[in-house]
Amino acid sequence: MPRDPRFDPLFAPLQIGPVTAPNRFYQVPHCTGMGYTMPQTLAAMRAVKAEGGWGTVCTEYCSIHPTSDDHPSPFASLWDQGDVANLAVLVEGVHRHGSLCGVELWHGGLRSANLLSRQTPIGPNSLPADKAPLQARRMDLADIRDYRRAHRAAALRAKEAGADLVYVYASHTYLLSQFLDPRINRSIPGYSGTIENRSRIIRELIDETKAAVGDALAVAIRIEVDAEATPRADPDGERRAVFELLKDGPDLFDVTITDYSQEMGVSRFIKEASLEPMIAHVRGIVQKPVVSVGRFTSPETMLSQVKRGVVDLIGAARPSIADPFLPKKIAEGRSDDIRECIGCNICYASDVQGVPLRCTQNPTMGEEWRRDWHPDRMPPAQKRERVLVVGAGPAGLEAALTLAQRGHPVTLAEARRDLGGRVTLESKLPGLSEWARVRDYRQHQLSKFDSVEIFRESHLSAADVRELAPRHVLLATGSHWRPDATGHHFPGGNPELDRAITLTPDDLLVGKRPATKSDPVIVFDDDHYLMAAVLAEQLAQEGYAVTYVTTAGVVGFWSRFTMEQARSQARLIEVGVRIVVSHAVEAVRGGQATLSCVFSGKRHDLPCGAFVPVTSREPNEALWHDLQSDPAASSAAGIASIQRIGDCKAPGLIAHAVYDGHRTARRIDGDQAVAEDLPPEDLLGEPPFRRDRVVIPTLP
Ligand SMILES: Cc1cc2nc3c(=O)[nH]c(=O)nc-3n(C[C@H](O)[C@H](O)[C@H](O)COP(=O)(O)O)c2cc1C
Ligand code: SF4
Repeated sequence: MPRDPRFDPLFAPLQIGPVTAPNRFYQVPHCTGMGYTMPQTLAAMRAVKAEGGWGTVCTEYCSIHPTSDDHPSPFASLWDQGDVANLAVLVEGVHRHGSLCGVELWHGGLRSANLLSRQTPIGPNSLPADKAPLQARRMDLADIRDYRRAHRAAALRAKEAGADLVYVYASHTYLLSQFLDPRINRSIPGYSGTIENRSRIIRELIDETKAAVGDALAVAIRIEVDAEATPRADPDGERRAVFELLKDGPDLFDVTITDYSQEMGVSRFIKEASLEPMIAHVRGIVQKPVVSVGRFTSPETMLSQVKRGVVDLIGAARPSIADPFLPKKIAEGRSDDIRECIGCNICYASDVQGVPLRCTQNPTMGEEWRRDWHPDRMPPAQKRERVLVVGAGPAGLEAALTLAQRGHPVTLAEARRDLGGRVTLESKLPGLSEWARVRDYRQHQLSKFDSVEIFRESHLSAADVRELAPRHVLLATGSHWRPDATGHHFPGGNPELDRAITLTPDDLLVGKRPATKSDPVIVFDDDHYLMAAVLAEQLAQEGYAVTYVTTAGVVGFWSRFTMEQARSQARLIEVGVRIVVSHAVEAVRGGQATLSCVFSGKRHDLPCGAFVPVTSREPNEALWHDLQSDPAASSAAGIASIQRIGDCKAPGLIAHAVYDGHRTARRIDGDQAVAEDLPPEDLLGEPPFRRDRVVIPTLP
């Protein structure tokens, strides 16, 4: 379909200093969990973004010097010619599709503990680094001179690699933010004190970078509109003065805010375009192009931002991860096909944990090189044969869609009336409505295939499966929360629980509630992600007196990886939930719960009228066992393979289920359905993906 001309402003080229962005889709710097250690993985991923129409594709934070080493977090680097060579390959991949490539030159300052390089951290003050009990060396004028030289050298390396744009990175609490912060920067002559002094280093870097590479490369700045010391302060405060001082310097202003949990907020707390009220004034101060972010997935919102002059370019990290082809889909009049980011931050969690990006919506993210997966092109099936998918949750829907895209005829059977499985239920919990996009995208795509039959309210038995006589069967029957608190703390379950007053998360999700509003509810979290916190929030909002008990030290311990832990805990405090950390629920009897401290074992009792264990899930594998029990009957029915996928195999995140459904569907071909998890014939073979690592030719 042709593009809707209303969206033409999003496709207008834009001059940025000496270069021209081909359109307004700007992939802002974002980490990948790949960094300099996985250059092939990284280059292939960025090239796919460019292919998908992102007119500008930036690197992640790219260290300029070994005094800025973020190990074990995987950062990019431009320390030497090896880095130049790898960046050049990445740039070439981006250029191949006509896009610009930007490099975010980064120095972490006192935050970088330099665990690998073992260089002494440097900063405007001697304060503790992030990842070690080690303080930075206070910078003097000689250090500032050396830092400026290192920045210039890195800019020249970016130019040598063919990049089109380099950043002076003055946000996110790294070195240049530390210079701007009067609480940190207190004693360097000429660089401390007034805002003119504290921003001096930034102005010097902009001038020097322009002098070094500005003939060919645009020089951008990433900077916050508020200050770390005074977050959310009036835009007419000190930061306005900084923008006034800088306004004629950089070729592009990439503006954001100091609250990272809003800038990169989860959809549970932060909705699309949330930065607008805070950043909208910048374009009135600076006469240069402005880009900002806001988890933009709606073409209408993007258009509105550009037309109203809020920004010139639509900045995106997560929307470009969830759908690398978002711009192309708008360009081709296929906005309905956009795979919208759900704002779960599983991408960020993988990066923080040091592994290549994983995305709930886009199972191909991070697999572009190592598995040759493309987000929009599936390998056609060599032999098209009917596949039965039992269960239309995230794994089943993704498998059905991938199979259909590959040309297989698909029968999808779902026990409930609604498709979506767990996402349909979980998206009704407070703040999680956008999670339904996992279902909606796939359901919409499936509706385009005549080769897909969907049967709702169809609870299939083993006999039903055989009667349907598909060639392959994928079981995606999900899982259910365990009522006996089996999990990390009680691997064998807890027999001391009063089952009569136990409500599992599944009970609550289908609307069951404690007998009376006056029943004090205990939610026991040994799962450590967000389910327990969200249920506690919901019950408290409905008027129940809720105590949240966790074996961990904070609410939703694992959700620190998704950047929502602090907001999650604050929300429970706001809605009046009592929080008890580092305790397990040992027994629930006679209206009392006995709690024990996970460190000392010391016990105390709390009143308990209803008990909600959120600990672990039991795979729904009855159908699998029934089918396994009579392989001859399945063969006689013409079934070549039966596999479990998603939660019914191994309960996990929605991202795990989607990935498993996708991966399995890619491996079904003709009579073959190659299982990947320890297939016996592969035990002595190669891993099922390429590995991005150096192979040493000889002993050095
Ligand atoms: C996985 C991930 C890694 C990020 N890494 C960086 C980074 O290296 N440098 C940076 O300036 N911002 C980084 N960010 C922040 C993004 O640039 C962006 O400001 C933020 O995600 C909000 O934009 P979005 O709503 O389009 O995702 C990262 C964001 C994500 C999701
Ligand atoms: S993991 Fe979640 S937040 Fe990140 S891009 Fe994918 S859908 Fe969006």
